[in-house]
Amino acid sequence: MHQRGLSIRRGHKSDSLLPDASRKDAPELSQVRLRPLEAQDLPALLRLDARCFPPRISYSRAELEFFVRHPRSTTTIAETDGQIAGFCVVDWRLESGRKVGHFITIDVSPELRRKGLGRLLMQAGEADLAAMGAIAITLEVATNNAGALVFYDRLGYQATGRIPGYYADGTDAFVLRKRLNAAG
Ligand SMILES: CC(C)(COP(=O)(O)OP(=O)(O)OC[C@H]1O[C@@H](n2cnc3c(N)ncnc32)[C@H](O)[C@@H]1OP(=O)(O)O)[C@@H](O)C(=O)NCCC(=O)NCCS
Repeated sequence: MHQRGLSIRRGHKSDSLLPDASRKDAPELSQVRLRPLEAQDLPALLRLDARCFPPRISYSRAELEFFVRHPRSTTTIAETDGQIAGFCVVDWRLESGRKVGHFITIDVSPELRRKGLGRLLMQAGEADLAAMGAIAITLEVATNNAGALVFYDRLGYQATGRIPGYYADGTDAFVLRKRLNAAG
């Protein structure tokens, strides 16, 4: 994803143990807590983003701050053992007068991948967007991000386009979309 961007709907969820936290292949998830963004999170999110994306793709402090503080964005933090293990940022825009959600970014700590954390964050972001009335969700993903492409495919996202040179390093992006209802 690239347009990684902005608000915070504080209190949209808190102290919630995740529904499938008892997955037998992921004992660590029993300790996962999803919560909204807090003011002091920014440096940790910035550090995590720098571990998740290459230098020219990861966000600058100004970019990340802009995105998580934007009035139309919602940030969800996943914590394990009191540490930030991942986060996602979503926002929405109007498309022919209807709300379409957008994943700005999703980042999971490298050592905690393939344990279901990414899926949980996606489900949380999707639930927020559905509650806002979004009819569909879109996102961009680098065409060479093979792992993320499988991840999104498993979650029901389908390619609807390609944007040449979308990323700062010249990599193309696929535009993926998931319908939330018949209008999407
Ligand atoms: C993409 C990302 C968010 C996935 O997070 P995650 O916590 O590892 O994902 P999950 O464990 O929930 O994976 C769910 C399923 O997606 C698929 N999947 C996830 N990562 C995969 C990979 N690298 N290769 C192949 N399939 C993958 C698998 O089917 C997986 O289920 P399984 O582990 O039971 O086989 C994480 O790899 C990440 O932060 N990457 C760096 C940042 C990034 O690329 N973000 C997306 C940018 S558009």
